[in-house]
Amino acid sequence: MKYASITERLSRLGSEKWAVHIEGKHRKAKGEKLIFLSIGEPDVPPPAAVLNAAKAGIRHGNLGYSAGEGAHKLRETLSRYYTKQTGRAIKPSQFLFLPGTQAALYVAFMAIIEPGDEVLLLDPYYATYEAVVTAPGGVPVPVRLDPDNDFHINFDLLEKTVTPRTKAMLLNSPSNPTGAVFTEEEISRLGAFAKKHNLWIVSDEVYATLVHEDHRFISPFFDKTLEERTVVVSSISKSHALPGFRCGWIAASEEFCRRTLPVSETMLFGGHPFLEEALTAALDGDFPENAAAKHAYLSRAEALVAGLKGANHLRAHLPEGGMFVMLDVRPTGLSGDQFARKLLAEEAVVTMPGESFGDGGAGHVRIALTVDEATMAEAARRIRKVAEGL
Ligand SMILES: Cc1ncc(COP(=O)(O)O)c(C=O)c1O
Repeated sequence: MKYASITERLSRLGSEKWAVHIEGKHRKAKGEKLIFLSIGEPDVPPPAAVLNAAKAGIRHGNLGYSAGEGAHKLRETLSRYYTKQTGRAIKPSQFLFLPGTQAALYVAFMAIIEPGDEVLLLDPYYATYEAVVTAPGGVPVPVRLDPDNDFHINFDLLEKTVTPRTKAMLLNSPSNPTGAVFTEEEISRLGAFAKKHNLWIVSDEVYATLVHEDHRFISPFFDKTLEERTVVVSSISKSHALPGFRCGWIAASEEFCRRTLPVSETMLFGGHPFLEEALTAALDGDFPENAAAKHAYLSRAEALVAGLKGANHLRAHLPEGGMFVMLDVRPTGLSGDQFARKLLAEEAVVTMPGESFGDGGAGHVRIALTVDEATMAEAARRIRKVAEGL
């Protein structure tokens, strides 16, 4: 049978990124003990109140079809949440419920990209970004972030990379994998750049609540003059440690939501109403579990950085936000991939090579902060051993 070209385009963007992780899983299946620092899956407990809201939704029989754009009560809650964050009125009609940020990214690019349109990706970037751009026929165009400036933006390079075919840029702050949080000045310059070249800004804000001291989360959506061109995608997968709930959303202009609803409905026919009830509770509350999780991620990063302090050939610093540390292994002379494979082979520590996140991640290894402090300190000891044995 003859398949559509999308199956070809997406098949080339897959599993080799995960080779080290997959090998770790195979070794685990054979009974070996390993330290997994490869996947950004929260290990911390989600808020009990949100779990209870989901259970109550089932008990009350909230099991029918939901509205395609999401339940009205949920969109009212999102409206309050974003009105408070942005300081201006954001209407319930400016949201679409989607089952996770990933689905929101897919729908957003389906709605704005024609075949051949270029999309700027700040490189290194999250592992699925090339695919979400490529699915509707878009062309991902990487723009290197500066590893020697903690992966912040090189605006000269951005300006050099834009072409008449550039249609959008995809931001992720706090960033997976780099841990960078873009400053107010950076967001303002990105906004001016987007206006100058008439670009969409797709802003992946899945780590927005995980910003560490001395840094502040700023979204382009906070700026009213960027509202018509900004599409925010987010979820409670990280903020509330609930990736399995698949509860996310788009926040954008009314026009974007009106035009994009049929794209989303064509595939989804609405969400799961008892989980939308839980999402409403999640966004309405302030939970000690979330504060504890944020604190835990920072303490683990501190344990890692302290354990690697002064190590030969390694550079690690605290992330500005998110759940990851980018470990710079360039002074070892190995690629991120070589270092990650050696670490797995010799010390049973599973990480992600920086190259899995684009060429901009070369010479780095991404460490997920998803084990307790003591295990993180042990991982640091093993990482150090590999580097110092070179
Ligand atoms: C940057 C980024 N965007 C999107 C996702 C997907 O999130 P969700 O579970 O909301 O689909 C992840 C998950 O790791 C991520 O790190």
